[in-house]
Amino acid sequence: MPNIRQILSAKTTEIDAWLHAYFAKLGNTNGYPRALLLAAEYSLFSGGKRIRPALALLVNEAYGAEPARALPIAAALEMIHTYSCIHDDLPAMDNDDFRRGRPSCHRQYNEATAILAGDALLTEAFAALALVPDREYLPELVRLLAEAAGFQGMVAGQTADIAAEGGEAELAFIHAHKTGALLTASVLLPAIIHNPPASDLASIRKFGESLGLAFQIVDDILNETADAEILGKPTGTDREAGKLTWVTLHGLDRARQMAKTEIDNAKSAIEFLGTAGASLRLLADYVLLRDR
Ligand code: IPE
Ligand code: IPE
Ligand code: MG
Ligand code: MG
Repeated sequence: MPNIRQILSAKTTEIDAWLHAYFAKLGNTNGYPRALLLAAEYSLFSGGKRIRPALALLVNEAYGAEPARALPIAAALEMIHTYSCIHDDLPAMDNDDFRRGRPSCHRQYNEATAILAGDALLTEAFAALALVPDREYLPELVRLLAEAAGFQGMVAGQTADIAAEGGEAELAFIHAHKTGALLTASVLLPAIIHNPPASDLASIRKFGESLGLAFQIVDDILNETADAEILGKPTGTDREAGKLTWVTLHGLDRARQMAKTEIDNAKSAIEFLGTAGASLRLLADYVLLRDR
């Protein structure tokens, strides 16, 4: 059994090959505004952990399928994730100058280009998704991805995050939406194409929701405790900005406990997969132990 670093590295190779081929085609279009493509590629190929596409590929693998079945889903997820990070760093939002160890998109290019690169990545994600070989599931995949990203998902969470005043219920909403929605989509979409029983789908959703919550709690913990060099983005910013996070609300100890409980819940939810779920369980452990 390979370890989680080997698993993530293998999945990164697969997804990056797909994305590079896709963007090479885009770049060949005549009259293409280079700055837009360069800014999008700058952020897309900057050493992200590729957790969302890895999840999608691993769920697909758990159903015994070839990667080609899930690669368009994996690519769409990473494109939307990257757009969300570009916009998250903008001065009007978190105003962060670094991400993934280098200047954030608007610092490397400019604000207008970063906004537009994000817009283009979000839109293009659906063109990538449309390449999924299991045509009959496409309407459902589009609906679920749009829900996870938009008014009922990530953007709703980001809106609440910006306006946050405090309290447990508000924090739970923020985490479940700004981070949980896309992570849940990362396991739900690749399951849908295998037409599993409703009870399996509910368990996979539970896995995604618990993993998503733990992922953001750990993001909050790392903002407080990590080595900024390793993390690749500034630390201490949540506290400075007076942000509502698991750490500012509950303190580090409780945040750590909570993240561990959610990872246990996530792993229990996919017990039904048996040995086919082994890599997903390793990934869940990694979410808790990661340092970046
Ligand atoms: C960071 O996500 C933003 C959140 C939603 C918490 P990741 O930690 O997955 O970022 P990268 O892609 O590895 O840089
Ligand atoms: C990021 O949340 C959520 C999205 C990008 C959708 P944060 O603002 O807490 O994440 P980082 O720490 O900047 O990656
Ligand atoms: Mg933010
Ligand atoms: Mg941020």
